[in-house]
Amino acid sequence: MKIIVIGSGGREHAIAKTLLQSPQVQQVVCIPGNGGTARLKRCENLPLKIDQFQAIADYAKTHAIDLIIVGPEAPLALGITDALQSHNLTVFGPTQAGAQIEASKAWAKALMSEASIPTAASAVFTDETAARAYLQSQGAPIVIKADGLASGKGVTVAMTLEEANAAIAEAFAGKFGSAGQKVVIEEYLTGQEASILALTDGETIRPLISAQDHKRIGEGDTGPNTGGMGAYAPAPVVTPELSDRINQEILLPTIKTLKKWEITYRGVLYAGLMITPEGDPKVIEFNCRFGDPEIQAILPLLETPLETLLLATAQGKLAQQEITWKPGACACVVAASDGYPGSFEQGFPITGIEVAEAQGAIVFEAGTSLNDNRPVTSGGRVLGVTGVGATHDLAFDKAYQAIASIYFQGLYYRRDIGHRVRQKQSQ
Ligand code: AMP
Ligand code: GLY
Repeated sequence: MKIIVIGSGGREHAIAKTLLQSPQVQQVVCIPGNGGTARLKRCENLPLKIDQFQAIADYAKTHAIDLIIVGPEAPLALGITDALQSHNLTVFGPTQAGAQIEASKAWAKALMSEASIPTAASAVFTDETAARAYLQSQGAPIVIKADGLASGKGVTVAMTLEEANAAIAEAFAGKFGSAGQKVVIEEYLTGQEASILALTDGETIRPLISAQDHKRIGEGDTGPNTGGMGAYAPAPVVTPELSDRINQEILLPTIKTLKKWEITYRGVLYAGLMITPEGDPKVIEFNCRFGDPEIQAILPLLETPLETLLLATAQGKLAQQEITWKPGACACVVAASDGYPGSFEQGFPITGIEVAEAQGAIVFEAGTSLNDNRPVTSGGRVLGVTGVGATHDLAFDKAYQAIASIYFQGLYYRRDIGHRVRQKQSQ
């Protein structure tokens, strides 16, 4: 098979690296890819922009590409799947209509309401005065969300009304562009978060193993939200019983309602969940693509060839596929640039990746590019240093030992990733 992977993050490097482990995969082309994908054997980067749908379609047709996997949400929300499908190409990723589940929080809330899916109570506003009046009636803590895509920065968990009002003012003042001209104000939920990434072809849904992300920049889950500073899989908080409830109460009703709305949804349905102190799963958000870094902690445990699963999903043949997993646990610790999620410097040489991999870790590259064929930093989240082990502790030991071998100027990582599942903490 020849496969295109759209995107340039840790998720896409992990997908490409996993695909290339299969003898069935002859070649992977990453658009535009990163420093990690550029150094993989049988893989090349193609410097197109992810919104150049026609150029991507032309390339795919000329090179007899069998499958196009879309990594990030932005091109999905712009309709890349619709555009490529109109050229008879096989695409993993929902259409523009389906991608609304992530691209409009108000739309996702309407779907959840129709499907009676458990989620935080909420209200949607396009008018600042009405939003403020509602805030006043609800009190704090409360959560303010820009409706549209805001690169993970559109959510404010406000502990005071003052913070909540400031978030409303910022959104309507245009901090998130048009994404913030509509806001969702939501009940504040407490509990433990979990990520369920499921493959679906619109009929069948196959959840991957559960994962837990660590959103905050600081140890002890403090400071601003990021794209995710580390993850592990499986997440023991998702017991087999809970997993069953998530299927019955959340995933299946979602697919059913999408179908009722005449959307054939093929790709990833990612449910970001809060497991409340009562033990009930509630949806915090849906995403239309693999979570990152969660997928970096999931793929190393996948036994079934990835290309088989994603092709079956894209072709509407997922019912014929079972997914099997390796035993054990996987831990991913993100090495970030100092300053992230705020501003940071880039272009610093990265050393020690080979040493880390020689120790048995897997290093997925996110914000890297090549300078003279050597990796340099080019983003906020730079690497996902990943370990597999028989237990969560052993997996984290491997990831943390490996990250100690890696150096770039300004390297920052959290030493407490996995604190909920580890017996001991890292040095
Ligand atoms: P999102 O971008 O929707 O994933 O939100 C980012 C983070 O904000 C989530 O991972 C949660 O930690 C937090 N969050 C979002 N919605 C709520 C909520 N209703 N209650 C409490 N925390 C929330
Ligand atoms: N790690 C969270 C996300 O991918 O949205």
